[in-house]
Amino acid sequence: MLLRDNVHFYPSPAGLDFSGEINSNSVLVTGSKHVLIDPGLSKRWEELKEKIVADGIDLSDIGLIFCTHSHPDHAEAACRAATELGADLLMALAELDFFVQGGAIFYYRTEEGVYLPIKGNFPVFETPDLNRFIKGFPGPFFFAEHKFRLFLTPGHTPGCMSLHWPDRGLLVTGDVYFPGTIGSVELFGGSPSSMYRSVRLLSGLQDVDLVLCGHGGPLEGRQAVEDNYRALMAEIEDKKAKGVI
Ligand SMILES: [Fe+2]
Repeated sequence: MLLRDNVHFYPSPAGLDFSGEINSNSVLVTGSKHVLIDPGLSKRWEELKEKIVADGIDLSDIGLIFCTHSHPDHAEAACRAATELGADLLMALAELDFFVQGGAIFYYRTEEGVYLPIKGNFPVFETPDLNRFIKGFPGPFFFAEHKFRLFLTPGHTPGCMSLHWPDRGLLVTGDVYFPGTIGSVELFGGSPSSMYRSVRLLSGLQDVDLVLCGHGGPLEGRQAVEDNYRALMAEIEDKKAKGVI
């Protein structure tokens, strides 16, 4: 679905309902080469491709896949997608480090350090080949003719990265926050104090009037963006008062 020039949004049908299958939203930024953000679960990859093609996009023009963080609902399909499309992969260096230091909690690691899909209560996930990822750092990021800004926004995981595209007023937050609520700080690597700082950091970006989160619908218009930050800060203050975070 085209939301504004060069910005396509592919929402997970589950929205903010985390009781069933959890898959992230995906975002496609188009240009002379396209950036696909958070390709999601592998088993939904074919479906996502169909939606992208239905929007008139040539898949071979996707030159970069950016993962906001390493959780499988955002990043499982990344390596297979990159192989199919001949695209590069990008994730924050801090997240890649976190992954090898125990962040692969949704995957299983052998004593030899090889990641295998975990079984049991978790679905079987494809494990990413970390060596294929370009290491992302906060700061300006140039791709095709576009200039983006990358922000390290820990709290949900230590290496969550948000992408800001000032030219289109776009902010992609991954699981830092959603419409009406902050992301979880309770998973391994989560940090309430980091989350607070990350939300404060992103709330200071003035040239944002479209926020696409990892789950839930779009926040469109400056008023919706500001109202959401007010709700998030109230939630954080409330949780702090209750000692929850
Ligand atoms: Fe996540």
